[in-house]
Amino acid sequence: MSSARTSTNQGESGVAISVEGVTKTFDGGMVKALDNLSLAIDAGEYVSVTGPSGCGKSTLMHLLAGLDRADSGRLEVSGEDLMRMRDPNGFRRNRVGLVFQMHNLLPHLDAKSNVMVPMLGTQRSRRERSARADELLEQVGLAEFAHRRPPQMSGGERQRVAIARALANDPAVLFADEPTGSLDSRSVERVLELIEELRKQRPVTIVMVTHDKAVANTADRIIYMVDGRVVDQPVGL
Ligand SMILES: Nc1ncnc2c1ncn2[C@@H]1O[C@H](COP(=O)(O)OP(=O)(O)OP(=O)(O)O)[C@@H](O)[C@H]1O
Ligand SMILES: [Mg+2]
Repeated sequence: MSSARTSTNQGESGVAISVEGVTKTFDGGMVKALDNLSLAIDAGEYVSVTGPSGCGKSTLMHLLAGLDRADSGRLEVSGEDLMRMRDPNGFRRNRVGLVFQMHNLLPHLDAKSNVMVPMLGTQRSRRERSARADELLEQVGLAEFAHRRPPQMSGGERQRVAIARALANDPAVLFADEPTGSLDSRSVERVLELIEELRKQRPVTIVMVTHDKAVANTADRIIYMVDGRVVDQPVGL
């Protein structure tokens, strides 16, 4: 770990994400996507999550981001008890950022407007939202693409816009589900550089699902999953 990273995390302490004995089933219990899963991730830590297809990685991301509910167990993210959450929309908007393999940008809005979407329900004025979007697009190296719509951009460019959007409300935790899965190697590098830059600027906890070993190795720690559980060693990769 570089000294820059360590200093970035000063002032941040404790556990950012705590999962204890979480089970999640689908289809009336026929499919057990998460099976009594437990893990802990420190504030400021950058971890990758990897494991065979169907082992429950996306399910875990959805639960942690407040998009779905566990059947049982305990989940705490950035101080929020997700099993007793009163304001899931507020949690999703203000506390976590999400990036998916398919960027999920709105195709009819330009890059800047896409970045501004998560700020709509916040206290920020229109002028502040605009300034923040400009700042984020600059940060991801796409200032000159502010008025391009997603269909006019490359996959890598869209993914960088999606990262800018995820960061709009300064989330304490960034979840990324295979953010580099559909990108060429140069675009993957740029996304990884962006993560590195971001961590130098402020303390942020990052959880990134990836099938790519080289990408997984850029994290401080790799969490291996098999059959809905965390295991010590990679299996079947
Ligand atoms: N909405 C759903 N309804 C029914 N089954 C589901 C649902 N979502 C996920 N599953 C099942 O739960 C298991 C875990 O799926 P999940 O998407 O979390 O896997 P994954 O590790 O992300 O896989 P991949 O690497 O292919 O993205 C799989 O068996 C999947 O078929
Ligand atoms: Mg998945």
